[in-house]
This record gives sequence, C-alpha cells and structure tokens, in this order.
Amino acid sequence: MRTQVCIIGGGPSGLLLSQLLHRKGIDTVVLERRSRDYVLSRIRAGVLEWGTVELLREAGVGARMDREGFPHEGTYLALQNRGFRVDFKATTGKQVMVYGQTEVTADLYAARDAMDGVVIDEAEGVTPHALDSDAPFVTWHKDGTEHRIDCDFVIGCDGFHGISRPSIPNSVLREFERVYPFGWLGILSETPPVDDELIYANHPRGFALCSMRNENLSRYYIQCDVNDSLDAWSDRAFWDELKRRIPGEAAERLVTGPSIEKSIAPLRSFVAEPMRWGRLLLCGDAAHIVPPTGAKGLNLAASDVHYAYHALARHYLDGDGEGLERYSEQALSRVWKAIRFSWWFTTLMHRFPDQTEFEQRIQEAELEALEASTAAQTVMAENYVGLPY
Ligand code: APR
Ligand code: PHB
Repeated sequence: MRTQVCIIGGGPSGLLLSQLLHRKGIDTVVLERRSRDYVLSRIRAGVLEWGTVELLREAGVGARMDREGFPHEGTYLALQNRGFRVDFKATTGKQVMVYGQTEVTADLYAARDAMDGVVIDEAEGVTPHALDSDAPFVTWHKDGTEHRIDCDFVIGCDGFHGISRPSIPNSVLREFERVYPFGWLGILSETPPVDDELIYANHPRGFALCSMRNENLSRYYIQCDVNDSLDAWSDRAFWDELKRRIPGEAAERLVTGPSIEKSIAPLRSFVAEPMRWGRLLLCGDAAHIVPPTGAKGLNLAASDVHYAYHALARHYLDGDGEGLERYSEQALSRVWKAIRFSWWFTTLMHRFPDQTEFEQRIQEAELEALEASTAAQTVMAENYVGLPY
C-alpha cells in the first residue's frame, strides 16, 4: 500500500486532519488501534473555541454542530458560593460553542465515510519506520496479517499513550510535566442544566464545574482525590457535594437524577518538544496534555491540525516546505500559551492538599480582582475563547 500522509490515531486530531487534506486532494490513510464503537463511546469535554468551530466548518463537518450546538457569550466564576459573570462577547467580541467532543468525533467519522476516506480500525502493533529518511513507512497487523504502507509523512495523532512520540529519539525529545494532586469526578445525567452558561466554582471543599450537552443532558464535575474509588461516590453523595460547592441559588435550582456515566480523571499538564522530527509530525494529545479546567484539550488539537494541514497543503500544492520547517515552532508557541492558561485557571480554582492560609487568601484576592477589573476579565476571556492561530 502507498499513501501520501499516513495518520496514526483515529481520534479527533487524526480524523480532522484526514478530512481537511482529502478535501485538498491529498491522500491519507488513518490507522486506529481501537474499534470504532469504542472511539465513539468516549465521553470528553464540550467547549469549542471559535477557531475550532471555523475549522470544523471548513472541513465540511459543521452542519450538525451549527444546528445543535449552543453558542455561549460568557461564563460564571464563583467564590465561596457567590458568583460573577465574565462576558466574552463584551470583552473580546467572541464566543465559544458548547458541543460535545463525542459528537464532533461522530460527525468526523460520518464525513470520512461519505468521502470514502480510509480509516483502518483495530490495527494492532502500529509501528512507524525510517522517520528520518525520505521514505518512511508504517507497519501493523490486523486479522493475523502483517501490513505495510509507504508514505511521504507520518502524522502522530495517537494521543498521550500512543507510539509516535516515543519514536522520537531520547536524545532529541524533551518533556515537561506537572501532575496535579487531585482528580475530577464527572457525571453525565439526563437532567436540564442548572444554568444556561457554565459555572466554575472555587470552594473551600474543592472545585466544582457545571456544564452541559443539551437541554436535557448535563455534565457536572467535582474535584476529588484521584485515588478515590468510584464505588465510594454514589449519585446521592455526588449531588450533595456538588450542591455544597456551587452558589446557593444554583444549588436550589439544581435538578438531580441518576447518572448515566461517572468517571474520575487525573489532571496533568504535559508538553513534548519538538513536535516534528524528520518526516514525523505530532498533533494533539500525542504532544501535549492540559488539565480540563480551561477546556483546551480538543481546541489545542484543532490548532495543531490547522498548522499541520496548512504546512502539508503548502508542500503538496505549492511545493513550498517552509510550513513544515516551521510547524513545531508555530504549534508550540500556541501550545505553551494554552498550557499556561490551563495551569493558571487550575491553580486559581482548586484546593491543593498542602494549601496554606496565605495561598488561600491569594486565590480569593485574585478572584475578587478579576471580578472588579474589566482588563483582567478581558485577558481571561481572550484565552478562554482561544488565542488567534
Ligand atoms: N496505534 C493506533 N492508534 C492509536 C495508538 C496506536 N499505537 N495509540 C493510540 N491510538 C489511538 C487511540 O485509540 C485514540 O483513538 O489514537 C487516538 C487518539 O485520540 P485522542 O486521545 O482523542 O487524541 P486526539 O485525537 O489528539 O484528540 C484531542 O484532546 O484533551 C483531549 O479530550 C481531548 O481527546 C481529545 C484530545
Ligand atoms: C465539559 O462540558 O465536559 C467541560 C466543560 C468545560 C471544561 C471542562 C469540561 O472546562
């Protein structure tokens, strides 16, 4: 087999890049380790920056998002049960779109199928070879048969636990990491959202977040111990704890119900450099992880895809390699700003196990300063709605 661009990983990064390149007449093959059902059942975050919205539209996958997604012009931040609103529209002129990543992935698969895009699922033992040569190739096996595909470029879209990043030699790869000493317990419930905007709450008992998917599907999170067992968190215990941490009027309005999904996620910031080595480019979670507090995971994947897409299109359509040369530097410059924002917002909103009274007062003072200052809110909003590409 031969293709121009071999993409490892059929999550949102891999599918979106494949879709964009195909529309420019550039041939791709996507190799995904899991089954399609597994990929489509993963529940992830739900806030799209406007740049992501526009990229999805450009890829021809924006129709359902535009019909079913919810544009949000602001968000609430709460401190000890009292909330205030940050107005994205008034401060930056921009908004975000609330639309689940699970739906984005489903739309991308549907679009790939409609164009007869090649997505090979349940590909085992995917291994890239000769990445520092002009003739890279990838091998895998499926149904007991060994396969090989030759290509011009390999794109590592295979997430944090993928094979692509470790294919860069140790002497070249640098990794930067912070692991936060807590997790998020999240539930999905078929209940109306408590508010029509998101509420991010800082509370002495720990952080809480009220989010949503649609009029009758809510997503809520509370900070927990990352080693907590899910069995220790009955639905009742979750709702009681959430109510304690959010502003009183929201707690009174909150409609509770059985959870249809419940999970605990660790929080981590991670960056790998460089994002290109020879004929390998990394995109999305393969190169970086953010804690979910700023909702940047999928959006950073989209900005990497934007840069990789334009670099590859320039190479194939204009014979100009400069985009590829600059890919790592360009992508990382935006990645680090989102890493900084997610770290700042996480640090501001969570209770750390060893937090001193001093640090507690600093958090409170910073939230009060944010409430009082349009300039500070503008900086927060600029980052939340997404920095320019
Ligand atoms: N071979 C083939 N596929 C692999 C391999 C491998 N060795 N390792 C992982 N994969 C697949 C995974 O099964 C998964 O479907 O790569 C895909 C990676 O998808 P994601 O983890 O969703 O990563 P990405 O596409 O970069 O999506 C952006 O940002 O913060 C997150 O929640 C956000 O998942 C979103 C991500
Ligand atoms: C979500 O809806 O799942 C969500 C929203 C905002 C975040 C994180 C997760 O910051």
